[in-house]
Amino acid sequence: MKEEVKVVLLTGGSSGIGAATASLLSEAGMTVFAASRSGKAPSGFPGGGEIVPIVMDVNDEDAIKKAIDGILARCGSLDAVVCNAGNGIAGPIEETSVSEVEEQFRTTFYGVVKTIQACLPVFREQGHGRVVTVSSVAAVAPLPYQGFYSAVKAAILNLTKALAIETKCFGIQCCTIMPGDVKTGFTAARRIAAKASSPESAYYQATRKGVEAMAKDETGGMAPEVIGRAVRRQLQKRKMDPEKTPTLLYSLLVWAIRRFPQGLVLKVLGRMYS
Ligand SMILES: NC(=O)c1ccc[n+]([C@@H]2O[C@H](COP(=O)([O-])OP(=O)(O)OC[C@H]3O[C@@H](n4cnc5c(N)ncnc54)[C@H](OP(=O)(O)O)[C@@H]3O)[C@@H](O)[C@H]2O)c1
Repeated sequence: MKEEVKVVLLTGGSSGIGAATASLLSEAGMTVFAASRSGKAPSGFPGGGEIVPIVMDVNDEDAIKKAIDGILARCGSLDAVVCNAGNGIAGPIEETSVSEVEEQFRTTFYGVVKTIQACLPVFREQGHGRVVTVSSVAAVAPLPYQGFYSAVKAAILNLTKALAIETKCFGIQCCTIMPGDVKTGFTAARRIAAKASSPESAYYQATRKGVEAMAKDETGGMAPEVIGRAVRRQLQKRKMDPEKTPTLLYSLLVWAIRRFPQGLVLKVLGRMYS
């Protein structure tokens, strides 16, 4: 049965992909609760539709519960959650400390887990609900010097698909969106592992070169609205796709990475980023 999506909780809604998505969803008539730590209204929002900025750190289970309770009190239902908040930590695998690895997984994986786990009881009770996660092409492309970012996005990809199987019987649908390079604040916010930032590091030059190449691709990347439109399309479809890679070029890239010999894939990625 098609359930029209009217009320959406969107994490990371204050900037970049989340801000563009909030604008596009609200233009389509949805009420969007745009969550972030700052609680800022999405930058560049032209007005129209309804966007409600909220302060909600995805690492804070109490804040998530409070936000959901507030949405239910105000709107009576919650039809979809878009788990978009995330960040990146670059660095070679040897020299990224365990605490830096934990930091990479904190918001970008555990934050997604906490948000989804808080929404699922509501969706089950209603008999409908949609979960959209924001993974990355990096989930299938093992990026050197961003190995933990690739790992966290691969985790999101598989988590979302497993969730789709587990929750289908409750009327819940799940989709993961896999963006390629997008021009947002993500690039400037990316941290580099402390040890690899020192010229003493055996990986110093390689890390710099790799990260500079990725930053160049991102700053020359697509507009966040491209991803926002893909999210909107999924929320408006009767049956969501389990995964969606926006743009033909990136979907061909994902197809090729999955089908070409992996030795060749690693060789090409090595040429591009190291
Ligand atoms: N840009 C790309 O090329 C690209 C490519 C593939 C996938 N992605 C993914 O797309 C998603 C959005 O990234 P973006 O490019 O739009 O980056 P961005 O412009 O840096 O936006 C990140 C958003 O997440 C929020 N946020 C960060 N930590 C949070 C937390 N603990 N709790 C709640 N909100 C939090 C930020 O707001 P506050 O700082 O106010 O909390 C901000 O609204 C990420 O998951 C990223 O991995 C990006």
